[in-house]
This record gives sequence, C-alpha cells and structure tokens, in this order.
Amino acid sequence: MSERRPVTLPRLREMHAAGEKIAMLTCYDATWARVLDDCGVDALLVGDSLGMVVQGHATPLPTTIDEMAYHVQCVARGNRHAWLIGDLPFGSYHEGVEQAMRSAAKLVAAGAQMVKLEGGGWTAPLVRHLVERGVPVCAHLGLTPQSVHALGGWRVQGRDADAAATLRRHARELADAGAAMLVLELVPAALAREITAELPIPTIGIGAGSGCSGQVLVLHDMLGATRGKKPRFVRDFAAGAGSVDAAIAAYVADVKAGRYPDDTAHAF
Ligand code: KIV
Repeated sequence: MSERRPVTLPRLREMHAAGEKIAMLTCYDATWARVLDDCGVDALLVGDSLGMVVQGHATPLPTTIDEMAYHVQCVARGNRHAWLIGDLPFGSYHEGVEQAMRSAAKLVAAGAQMVKLEGGGWTAPLVRHLVERGVPVCAHLGLTPQSVHALGGWRVQGRDADAAATLRRHARELADAGAAMLVLELVPAALAREITAELPIPTIGIGAGSGCSGQVLVLHDMLGATRGKKPRFVRDFAAGAGSVDAAIAAYVADVKAGRYPDDTAHAF
C-alpha cells in the first residue's frame, strides 16, 4: 500500500479544484492527532473550542495564546500527514497587525501550518499582513464564537438579505486579502453554497449545509461525548460504529461522499 502523502496547501488547492471534499476535525492532543491522522482526516484544527471542550469554560473567550500554543505542540507531535491549523484566540490579534504576527508566530513555532482568525472586513488587513509574511490564514465568518456576547448567543447568522449581503462581501474581502480557506459557521445552507461558488478558495462548513468545500466538527460532539444540548447539525458518528477508528473513518467517508451533512436534516 502506498504511504499517504502529507496534506499541504497546494494539495488542499488541488482537492478544491477537483471538487474533493475536505474532511476536518478539531483536535487538542497527541493521541487524538494520531488517531485522526491514521483515519484519513485531511486537516486538524486546534480550535479555541478547547476552552469549552478541554478547559470547561462556558465560552472560548478565556483561552490564551500560550494555552493554544501548548495544545498545537501536543497535536503536532501526534500528527504525521494532516494539515495543522491553530486558532488565534480572543484578544491575540485584535490590537493590530503586529500583535497578530506575534501571536501567529507562537502558533507556527509550535507546529501550526496555518492560523485561523475570526471576523469580517476588519480582519482583512491582518490577513494580508500575515500572508505577506508567509503565514497561511484561514478566515472564519458566520457565528464567530469569540463574538458570542455581541451576537446575542449561538445563533444562525446571515438570515436576512442585508446580513447575507454583508457576509458575502466580507467573504470576498478576506479571499482578496489572501485567506487560503474560510470557515462558515451556522449560516443558511443556501447562503453558504452561494459564497462557496463565488470564492476562489475552499469553504469549510459547520452547521452551514452540504454546499461547502469541506466540513469541520468538534471532535467531542461527533463522538457523542458532549453532554447537554447538542447543535442540530451534529451527527453522532460513534453511535453503532463499534470503534473510535470506525467512527472517524465514517465521518471522513461521509464528508467525502457528500452524505454528511444532510441538508434535509440540518438545513436552516
Ligand atoms: O474553535 C473551533 O473549534 C472552531 C470550529 C468549531 C470551527 O472554530
């Protein structure tokens, strides 16, 4: 059997051009990095969701850049092939381009191959600054958890015509600034599909329907380990799978084949 090639930025671009869906999951430690990598996950996101999932906070807001860097290091040690994205946490890029570069440098030194940051047009100069300095950037629009208080909760974004037009404009601005990928979280499936068709870069949906170029889920959610109310779009891949590896492999296969998400079950 041929050895799996590491996923690189050119490879992600090739997948996008070929219409191959990108399967991404969040990951916070070395053991899970090895499992997800072995099961063929294309990209691992050390998301600031670790503030909730690992640290037990109610929001990702308290998580610091040094905590993120520590978890990126752990994931990098377990990973061998998957593309590794580190999330810039709240307050680590909001002061401007120099702070953003200092924070990105911490995650890149820890092993991240791309950094993710949240927000609309105001982040475009930050994206451009990082990209010009050799740091690939993933943007994040829609429900941006670092703005949960400003947004009034974990709500679907871009529902009315004005909000949808703003989201589309921000998506174009971020792609023009050099973002290589865009996460769309909790936006109507039809809007996510339109944005995906308009952009030259892959979109990764979470609660954004099947029209995105790929999907991401929080690992603990898709393994059924999260207690309390679950987002409607989450599928429990562990139910009936028989093993952790089978659950992860089913996620990868279902994303690649367009079986997850199912818009009839998850559409907004
Ligand atoms: O922090 C995170 O895990 C994320 C994903 C849910 C997209 O931003």
